[in-house]
Amino acid sequence: MENLILIKDMVKRYPAGAGEFTALQDINLIIGKGEFTGFVGPSGSGKTTLLNIIGTLDQQSEGDVHFMGTDVLKLTHKQSAALRSEKIGFIFQSYNLLPVYTVFENVEFPLLLLNLPESKRKEMVHKALEWVGLTDKINSKPDQLSGGECQRVAIARAIVKRPVIVVADEPTANLDAENSHHILQTMVDLN
Ligand SMILES: Nc1ncnc2c1ncn2[C@@H]1O[C@H](COP(=O)(O)OP(=O)(O)OP(=O)(O)O)[C@@H](O)[C@H]1O
Ligand SMILES: [Mg+2]
Repeated sequence: MENLILIKDMVKRYPAGAGEFTALQDINLIIGKGEFTGFVGPSGSGKTTLLNIIGTLDQQSEGDVHFMGTDVLKLTHKQSAALRSEKIGFIFQSYNLLPVYTVFENVEFPLLLLNLPESKRKEMVHKALEWVGLTDKINSKPDQLSGGECQRVAIARAIVKRPVIVVADEPTANLDAENSHHILQTMVDLN
């Protein structure tokens, strides 16, 4: 299996007061293409810290982090931004949808960073909304949707560009049990 993520002897420290706080240490991890991986742990155990490093939003203090064979510390700011916009989809606990935009516009948003013709963008947005079963809400605004529907829009937005990896930080935390199950099943099916 092709390695997407390879993390070796990784440590993450944050500045804290005059000293430092070690949030993660001795992290060794490989995630292969097509894998569905979850991190479980109590509040403060470092799940978000690890996801931010995997998503190249933050950098480790020690050790190696490779994304598709590339040492992330060797990327320039511009290269890591390009890697995120082309290869990584993000889903957050609080949806992070743009309230004044329609469902279509929210899902189209990450495609605006890529150089794609409008007709192609339209086709990709429609496909992504089909995958999450929300084509009938394409012109709605987020405040006209339920929590579960908002999170499905966020999933569509994360997958619309067909990223190699989707990083999701507690994507079901704001949902009831039934919607949580539905969201998780949608993610498994899409994977
Ligand atoms: N920017 C920061 N500066 C200093 N310490 C931080 C920073 N971000 C996180 N921490 C600390 O690192 C530890 C891990 O935080 P993290 O947010 O990764 O935990 P988590 O497992 O995601 O928790 P939760 O389940 O509550 O979301 C915590 O003790 C936190 O206080
Ligand atoms: Mg967290």
